[in-house]
Amino acid sequence: MDFLKPRYTPMNRRRRIYEGKAKVLYEGPEPGTLIQHFKDDATAFNAQKHEIIDGKGVLNNRISEYIFQNLNDIGVPTHFLRRLNMREQLIREVEIIPLEVVVRNVAAGSLATRLGLEEGTQLPRSIIEFYYKNDALNDPMVSEEHITAFGWANPQEIDDIMALAIRVNDFLSGLFLGVGIRLVDFKIETGRLWEGDLMRIVVADEISPDSCRLWDIKSKDKLDKDRFRRDMGGLVEAYSEVARRLGILSETENPTANGPRLVQ
Ligand code: TMP
Ligand code: ASP
Repeated sequence: MDFLKPRYTPMNRRRRIYEGKAKVLYEGPEPGTLIQHFKDDATAFNAQKHEIIDGKGVLNNRISEYIFQNLNDIGVPTHFLRRLNMREQLIREVEIIPLEVVVRNVAAGSLATRLGLEEGTQLPRSIIEFYYKNDALNDPMVSEEHITAFGWANPQEIDDIMALAIRVNDFLSGLFLGVGIRLVDFKIETGRLWEGDLMRIVVADEISPDSCRLWDIKSKDKLDKDRFRRDMGGLVEAYSEVARRLGILSETENPTANGPRLVQ
């Protein structure tokens, strides 16, 4: 009685809305929804460096699901609806604001380089930075002046984005501290969610070790994408460790053996 089974659209017949470096967005089952598919691709330095890392997509899907579900549960609005399978989640369609919003607690990466700070220096307070999402320009840092002048977001929206970023920082800092991890910095993206005539800004995209710097508090080991950026190896092991500590991946589960594999 095969015809009685719910029909699903095979991946290659779904309408592809957008393909990014690490994810693909497909049309969702209902209007206003999309399917976010996590690939195994790792890129850095504006995709000059690129590798397929078996299992990364599965881990990021699970870790991002866990974080977004918790944000939803504490009243921080996000685009996340639910995870569908090992590599995919159902999300609300939002109008992405073309900014990468970076929150930093500890000097590292480009901030350490730009201001000549030693990596690991605690910052006097959390710092929010904005980067204009534009690969051709290599995501340049911009100020609120640029954002309002070019109409990427208005002053009220910038206030909302900063308030969201701070709430996400407080939640994530506590979450990771509880499992022995220091949240050094992270990046979020935000989008406009329309509900009739009402619009609100929500957290979009993903939050995973691809978009955070996570250092083990005791050993100072890096448990994030810097392992790939800096050719340190052990990326899947590090992401698995983050998932294991958060209690979302049992020790016997093997992320590389699960889920559909994207045909390149
Ligand atoms: P940065 O030190 O290279 O500016 O990165 C700051 C944080 O933002 C770090 O946690 C990594 C994250 N990030 C992304 O998620 N995507 C990016 O394209 C960049 C440049 C940084
Ligand atoms: N993922 C970004 C890129 O491909 C950069 C990074 O995370 O370092 O450019």
